Amino acid sequence: MPWRVPPAQRQAGVLPDPYAVWMSEIMLQQTTVAAVRDYHRKFLRIWPTVYDLAAADDADVMAAWAGLGYYARARNLLKCARAVVTDHGGVFPDTYAALLALPGIGPYTAAAVAAIAFDRPETVVDGNVERVMARLYNIHTPLPGSKAALTAQAKALTPQDRPGDYAQAVMDLGATICTPRSPACGICPWRDPCAARVAGTAAELPKKTPKKKTPTRFGIVYVARRTDGAWLLETRPEKGLLGGMLGWPGSEWSDDPEAAPPFAAEWTPLDTEARHTFTHFHLRLKIMTTHADLDTKPARGQFLTPDAFSPAALPTAMRKVFDLAHVTLRSN
Ligand code: ADE
Repeated sequence: MPWRVPPAQRQAGVLPDPYAVWMSEIMLQQTTVAAVRDYHRKFLRIWPTVYDLAAADDADVMAAWAGLGYYARARNLLKCARAVVTDHGGVFPDTYAALLALPGIGPYTAAAVAAIAFDRPETVVDGNVERVMARLYNIHTPLPGSKAALTAQAKALTPQDRPGDYAQAVMDLGATICTPRSPACGICPWRDPCAARVAGTAAELPKKTPKKKTPTRFGIVYVARRTDGAWLLETRPEKGLLGGMLGWPGSEWSDDPEAAPPFAAEWTPLDTEARHTFTHFHLRLKIMTTHADLDTKPARGQFLTPDAFSPAALPTAMRKVFDLAHVTLRSN
């Protein structure tokens, strides 16, 4: 993680840029380090300081976030940057409580930024840390019921000395050695004190209360391409999934979707649906396509010409629709 400051430098008093740490922790929520790295680099290149980000256009930030998922994070990222500039003179607050009061910063992020960027003895608990604690103390109570107990153990272990290094070390341990399926106990620095290793139960922990099966929802999207190559797109409402992102006009997502087309035309269904899985459901989108004249007046959305729109600005579900539809809607 290129935004990190290594332990030797930290001990010499060098701490990382809180702006870079905050951004990394927002991006890393529900997202792997491998997926985050390039986005983090891109965001810091385009908006090197919290002032630059606070002054950015919402649409540019949403477009730059496209593909990372959980788009509420991007909307909150902007809100938080603007709050830091307006309410804190552009300087990130350095305590858990003050960080927690900022938009989009919950207990996890407040603790992570306080510990990593300011070396405050706050306890960071993510899925990695929960797994490490469940094994270290051989706790068999299933998640999410065991959350409080696992958090208490993590708190009890947090040192006053180098809490920032400690927070990152436990997360790294969970990500690289104390992994979900086959933990590498043989090379673990905590192999001796680990109760689950002694009991031979490490690989089965943490136990989890079984989830309900993921439901499937259906939707219809209308993909229209004008003779000049422009695509009919709309900015989705702020509230709800993919809020604030570009998308194809279409229906709600439900068991039995219905939506009028954005303009009267001969709409042809594609024989392939676009499929995408969100946290709580699978989505299957039926794709209706048509060509449009230059004088078409759609009831919703607007035609974006190729210079005003890049497919990379679409969230992944909508990008999959583009990939399927653009083959049939070549403009010449
Ligand atoms: N996952 C989320 N934030 C992390 C961090 N700072 N170090 C290691 N893994 C992480």
